[in-house]
Amino acid sequence: RILILDFGSQTTQLIARRVREAGVYCELYSYDTPVEEIRKFAPRGIILSGGPESVTEAETPRAPQEIFDMKIPILGICYGQQTMTAQLGGTVEAGDKREFGYARVRMHGHSKLFHDLRDEQEDSGAEWLHVWMSHGDRVTRLPAGFKVIAETPTAPFAGIADEARGFYGIQFHPEVTHTTQGRSILQRFVHDICGCGSLWTPGHIIESMVQSVRAQVGQDEVILGLSGGVDSSVVAALLHRAIGKQLTCIFVDNGLLRLNEGDQVMETFARHMGVKVIRVDAQDRFLSALKGVADPEKKRKIIGGMFIEIFEEEAARIKNARWLAQGTIYPDVIESAAAKTKKAHVIKSHHNVGGLPEKMNIKLLEPLRELFKDEVRRIGEELGLPHQMIYRHPFPGPGLGVRILGEVKKEYADLLRKADAIYLEELYRHNLYEKISQAFAVFLPVKSVAVLGDARAYDYVVALRAVETVDFMTANWAHIPYEVLGIISNRIINEVRGISRVVYDISGKPPATIEWE
Ligand code: XMP
Repeated sequence: RILILDFGSQTTQLIARRVREAGVYCELYSYDTPVEEIRKFAPRGIILSGGPESVTEAETPRAPQEIFDMKIPILGICYGQQTMTAQLGGTVEAGDKREFGYARVRMHGHSKLFHDLRDEQEDSGAEWLHVWMSHGDRVTRLPAGFKVIAETPTAPFAGIADEARGFYGIQFHPEVTHTTQGRSILQRFVHDICGCGSLWTPGHIIESMVQSVRAQVGQDEVILGLSGGVDSSVVAALLHRAIGKQLTCIFVDNGLLRLNEGDQVMETFARHMGVKVIRVDAQDRFLSALKGVADPEKKRKIIGGMFIEIFEEEAARIKNARWLAQGTIYPDVIESAAAKTKKAHVIKSHHNVGGLPEKMNIKLLEPLRELFKDEVRRIGEELGLPHQMIYRHPFPGPGLGVRILGEVKKEYADLLRKADAIYLEELYRHNLYEKISQAFAVFLPVKSVAVLGDARAYDYVVALRAVETVDFMTANWAHIPYEVLGIISNRIINEVRGISRVVYDISGKPPATIEWE
């Protein structure tokens, strides 16, 4: 296992994902983690991430000095390289400005880190890598024992190493895809230099999670709120494999789900896999609680509150339930840890059952809390969940409740469900669904004029939203081909009586949020 000490770079999570993709388990700790905790984690190697600070200022973040005496390899990336240099007695000087950009670095001699890697080779024998460089502060004098393994005209110490101790520093970012050989460089470090094997594979992950879940819960009963989303679905499949009938899932149909969603969840889990699922039909309760409410945040509160109320009622009927399982994943854990130390982080309260454990005197079981989303998907596939379910776009907890603008009515939800299903069906049919990050229809409770035969009619409007995004914090509207939009619009207008106009949302986030409410 590898430990990554986080100095706050935007791309630290990417380092972790690349290391895991190389089949090696790793975790992210804050740079100021006490050394005892690091020793307890017992890493085979440490990676120091990049960060926004400058080593040349007083009181800048430093790695615990003791890690350099732990006799394990260390790789410093960007800021990590600089702090390693400074902490080992070298010199770092301030550059004028921090820049992030493409560069060609020339390798020197042979190093284990770049062994057999190159993007270009000249007749003279010179070998080059294409990398994404961070210019800013730079190393100007090496600590004792170090030599240069890569340079550029502006960065004579772009790569440095003390191979006897297994210390490496690079000024560029191997975790971003612009560094062509980046993935291989990280593999060289974790496999060849640290000596870690490729054990972190979906099969192994499942096996070790099954063992630890069994050890944790013993003979106790476990309950899980199953939503049909990726994370809770994977938890259900995993727990079913681990503890079978000790698991009871509660699926609440709030009347704000997509077309046939409830049936599909029952089909996949109850029928195919034999998971115990209680389906609660609570449409009327949700709809009557929402009557007359138009404010989005009020709607969210009502839907969330009602969910908890119903979930508690159902859970109370399950005798001996000692554990509440949740689909918390590693980015959620990192985000909440970051929010504790940094103040500016906004957190979505996407776990609808927050607050329940204390009230119900029940313990939390979070088997996915060490996994990234792509790992969750891979083990979901390995567990036999349908591909479509695993690669589904995110769907908000309040569901269609925030996609029907203003007051929610059953009539609106029924119209929207039909329009949305046609939209998604055509995206799948044209192979666009998985290229888009999130797509859905929005119901606008306004009527516009339609000419039906000779008569005028006043029917509702539906807006189509589709975005491309990496982190859902910013997003671009997706450029769906006009022909496909035409087909979707025709079908909705022809097949959904009550909707006579379809519009396409071409707003980016910011400022327009992905959901309309
Ligand atoms: P916005 O609309 O804020 O959405 O750009 C960003 C992402 O969050 C989802 N979203 C929600 N998820 N409960 C949820 O569980 C909510 O109340 C909620 N509001 C937005 C949205 O679908 C998108 O993926």
